[in-house]
Amino acid sequence: MNGLFFHFFYLFVLGNYQESLLYETMEQNFLPKENSKEKYLLFKSDLISEFHSLVSKISDIKSISEKIILNEFGRFLSTKLYEMSRGSIDPSWNYLQFLENIENTIHEALRNSNSSFNPPILKVTRISDNKVVMSYDSPRRLEYLALGIIQGFSRFFKDKYMVSMSKVDTPNSEISLFEISIANTAETTNAKEHSQNE
Ligand code: HEM
Repeated sequence: MNGLFFHFFYLFVLGNYQESLLYETMEQNFLPKENSKEKYLLFKSDLISEFHSLVSKISDIKSISEKIILNEFGRFLSTKLYEMSRGSIDPSWNYLQFLENIENTIHEALRNSNSSFNPPILKVTRISDNKVVMSYDSPRRLEYLALGIIQGFSRFFKDKYMVSMSKVDTPNSEISLFEISIANTAETTNAKEHSQNE
């Protein structure tokens, strides 16, 4: 987990869950102790167990499930990722085309550009004109973060998108599958008209 993600997590927690106990937790983990030569956690990488334990502490303090915290963080992160990647997004793509191109345009470029980046491999299969399935298989087990990123990122495209998640057990790991489809605009329009007539 790259330090950049910790930095965004720090901003997310302080911005969303204001509470003094959380400031203490975050500062113990993110800011250097006085006279300490330790590096800031912020700049260290691959501290996935620390990240999971931070999420768990926040979940206890705020009585919010870890899944919801990760999902909300993913939505927050999607805005940052959009700012980082908008130059690689072809303006003619819809969201499904963007998702099909993440691996070769964005995650792969990150792996090549900076050895400390190790984003997950996201395999995308085209099901129809209106639907893709993305598989997420990472030892970091951040599928609810991935769900939040996928949901949040869709806001930057014109159409409305629906996202659902399911899990598949394999002998060595658990893979998460995300089905992303363009919302049926005809149905949406009919539903709106129907409710206006009531
Ligand atoms: C909607 C599409 C995307 C999904 C579902 C997604 C998912 C994820 C997830 C879940 C992680 C956490 C690491 C892990 O689980 O192994 C991650 C890492 C990362 N992603 Fe993506 N991502 C997406 C698009 C992007 C975009 C557009 C960027 C643009 C720059 C980006 C940049 C990164 C970076 C920098 C990391 C950190 C890698 C590391 O810590 O080593 N991602 N991604």
